[in-house]
Amino acid sequence: MGLMRKKSVQGMLAFAQTSQGLRKELTAFDLTMLGIGAIIGTGIFVLTGTGATVAGPGLVLSFVIGALACGFAALCYAEFAAMLPISGSTYTYAYATLGELVAWIIGWDLMLEYLLASSAVSVGWSGYFQSLLAGFGITLPEALTAAAGAVPGKDTLFNLPAFCIAMIITGLLAFGIKESKRINNIVVMIKVAVVVLFIVIGMWHVKPVNWSPALPYGFDGVFHGAAIVFFSFLGFDAVTCAAEEVKDPARDIPRGVIWSLAICSLLYVIVSAIMTGIVPYAQFAGIDHPVSLALQVAKLDWFAGFVDLGAILGMMTVILVMTYGQTRILLAMSRDGLLPKVFSDINPKYGTPYKATWMVGTVIALIAGFVPLHTLAELVNIGTLAAFSLIALAVIVLRKREPDLPRKFYCPAVPYVPALAILFCVFLMTQLSALTWVFFVGWLLIGLGVYFGYSRRNSLLHKPR
Ligand code: ALA
Repeated sequence: MGLMRKKSVQGMLAFAQTSQGLRKELTAFDLTMLGIGAIIGTGIFVLTGTGATVAGPGLVLSFVIGALACGFAALCYAEFAAMLPISGSTYTYAYATLGELVAWIIGWDLMLEYLLASSAVSVGWSGYFQSLLAGFGITLPEALTAAAGAVPGKDTLFNLPAFCIAMIITGLLAFGIKESKRINNIVVMIKVAVVVLFIVIGMWHVKPVNWSPALPYGFDGVFHGAAIVFFSFLGFDAVTCAAEEVKDPARDIPRGVIWSLAICSLLYVIVSAIMTGIVPYAQFAGIDHPVSLALQVAKLDWFAGFVDLGAILGMMTVILVMTYGQTRILLAMSRDGLLPKVFSDINPKYGTPYKATWMVGTVIALIAGFVPLHTLAELVNIGTLAAFSLIALAVIVLRKREPDLPRKFYCPAVPYVPALAILFCVFLMTQLSALTWVFFVGWLLIGLGVYFGYSRRNSLLHKPR
């Protein structure tokens, strides 16, 4: 049956071993840095404010729940990534295991993750950029500071800085300026330094009275908060996009995925405890740079400029990695014939999917200009949670179907760990708003339309070259 047709795992392994001209020089350390570079961004710098508004000091628990959901999913990812060190992320893994239709759905869901996350992080970037400008006495006309309806009581229309940063990063990618290892490592150091300094300095300003009541909105608030701050953890999966450039992928990719996630989770839990300990949670309502707010409340304004700068630089790498990831997933799907060829056309001069990058980047920038952050973050989360659930399912299926396939990394306690991943992810999906679900179902239906109208017939597995 066409819907279940699969690429052969053996064939893909052979491809991974032979066919790449890419230099293999990344180590587990580089991958961990790459992961942290993609993870720490708008989630911790911006969405913690929204999370604190719905969960109160219980935000700490929200982060723990988000970390567990991602941790279980990361172990599943690691098993696949070590087995099939090929770019294209989960989409590629699903194609080899669950068949073409599921692979298509995952690829389609991942567009919500990567494309909309790039838009969302651009919006987060804009908040900090404007805060930095304000420090120099520069303010933009109100209409150009945010999307319509983003800030209650303000006449906003279009988020100009968010649009601009998305277009600038698109330009860098289109002209083939890859994030160099060195620059990434420096930016990651700055980002981590900002977060660690916040912890070390902020903890002296915590007033335990702010932690009570601990759960002002009960566990409902905690779960809702978890469904929002889940966004903060995304990016660890981007480590697998570099699979073909790793020295010893089977050993290093699982390490990179797990280490980057573990380090960020620890930092997040501590930061959220300190933030809600400094600022009474109700004050976070409508704030788009909550870390700076905590510093102001603690009378540490001198540190706020440094945080702004770290956040601005840090979020740029997130946008870069996410946009890059999106173009590479489209490239993989297009190479398989599931999307038009334009997505895998490589420009000979720049060595990049030039046209596709500009197309994708323009869409990202326009969405960043017109859609508020909260709406975007929920959509990113629902798409990613769905993709994570499917990938956990794929681990269980493949263990049954191909038990003897060599696996360099074994997800522990299968089927329990993948089952927990599915349980956590589906549960978090149920915590998202009805509107997000409507959009998600609509998105899936459009995806199925494209699949049955175009991809199924044009798939290379359907008409081998
Ligand atoms: N985890 C990334 C961020 O928070 C997407 O910006």
